[in-house]
Amino acid sequence: MTSRDRALELDRADPLARYRDEFVIPDDSLVYLDGNSLGRTPKRTIERLKQVVEGEWASDLILSWEHWLDLPRRVGDRFVDIIGSRPGEVVVHDSTTLNLYQGVHIALGLRPDRKVLVVADDEFPTDRYVVEGIAHDLGLTVRSLRPGIDLSDVAVVVRSVIDYRTAALADVKAFTDEARAAGAMVLWDLSHTVGSIEFDVHALGVELAVGCTYKFLNGGPGAPAFTFIASHLQALAQQPIRGWFAQKDQFAMERPFEPHDDIRRVLLGTPHILSLVAAEEGIALTARAGMPAIAAKGRALTSFAIDVIDHFGLTTSTPRDAAHRGNHVAVHHPDAKTLLKKLADLRVIADVRPPDIVRLGLSPLTTRFVDVWDGLNALKSLIEAHPS
Ligand SMILES: Cc1ncc(COP(=O)(O)O)c(C=O)c1O
Repeated sequence: MTSRDRALELDRADPLARYRDEFVIPDDSLVYLDGNSLGRTPKRTIERLKQVVEGEWASDLILSWEHWLDLPRRVGDRFVDIIGSRPGEVVVHDSTTLNLYQGVHIALGLRPDRKVLVVADDEFPTDRYVVEGIAHDLGLTVRSLRPGIDLSDVAVVVRSVIDYRTAALADVKAFTDEARAAGAMVLWDLSHTVGSIEFDVHALGVELAVGCTYKFLNGGPGAPAFTFIASHLQALAQQPIRGWFAQKDQFAMERPFEPHDDIRRVLLGTPHILSLVAAEEGIALTARAGMPAIAAKGRALTSFAIDVIDHFGLTTSTPRDAAHRGNHVAVHHPDAKTLLKKLADLRVIADVRPPDIVRLGLSPLTTRFVDVWDGLNALKSLIEAHPS
């Protein structure tokens, strides 16, 4: 049974429904299906920002640095509940792009005799550009990721866990094991994974990963990203940008560069404190709701979306098995771009990914089943009214 009533029924039975109240939602009728590009605003974030601006920045001024200094690591420790990392294995800093750049260099430093980098032709652009740029600068070769690829001469593979277009989920354990057996490193991009599905870096054998906090973690626009380095690799990690926040005795000032032996060696300069505290609130909210409940709702939302897509005779490339997908769905239509604009006129916010995907992001803490129905119903009506 696929209907709007069924969507309302699912919302009534949703154990996470109350989490919507944790967010600022000025217009309850807006169908927001883009939380995988920019998550909604947690109410606590506003409170926390006010408290940090007034109570720490304005009142204590520079004295606040005493407890701000270690914030990238303290916020990083919150990932224990999100990706199964151990305390001290994650720092929250800079952007995913920059962290990819550092991560590729770290992996190259661990495989100094190898000259090949691997990335898929359809990988997210910034990941491809970073890999291609580093290869260009260092005279290395870039090889396209294909099924059955030979990794025996590869230094590092950069790969997303969840495809940003279709939401297809990589077999992380199998690929990481295969790479390790071939002597290659893998730098995983968890941007669409964190706060979306259950993920356990150690159970999966992941040693290096980066990702965004402004999507499913609701960290805020331009929120700092994160870097995960398994503890056994940290002291060996060499990254190309030497900044004083990586330095062992940071305020001794006159010493030559000697980075921390731990995860802080990826830090650069002064952290963005306001963005970091905003990110912390989003991450803490996710941890409070718990990844098992979030992932279960994600599977239920995407399953319902696929039922509705079938019901309306639309086309999707999102995997039908919930165990093999993340929390967005891709609807294909040749007029995707025009449809997106018309959806916005109907107060339905989605996203488009070339060449022909209308992408609907389903955020377990804020998206209702009825939003899924209403969004897809609007899309179907537009397609019927303006056949291509
Ligand atoms: C897979 C993936 N990697 C990286 C990024 C973005 O990186 P940055 O935050 O540096 O813009 C995105 C943004 O949507 C993404 O989807």
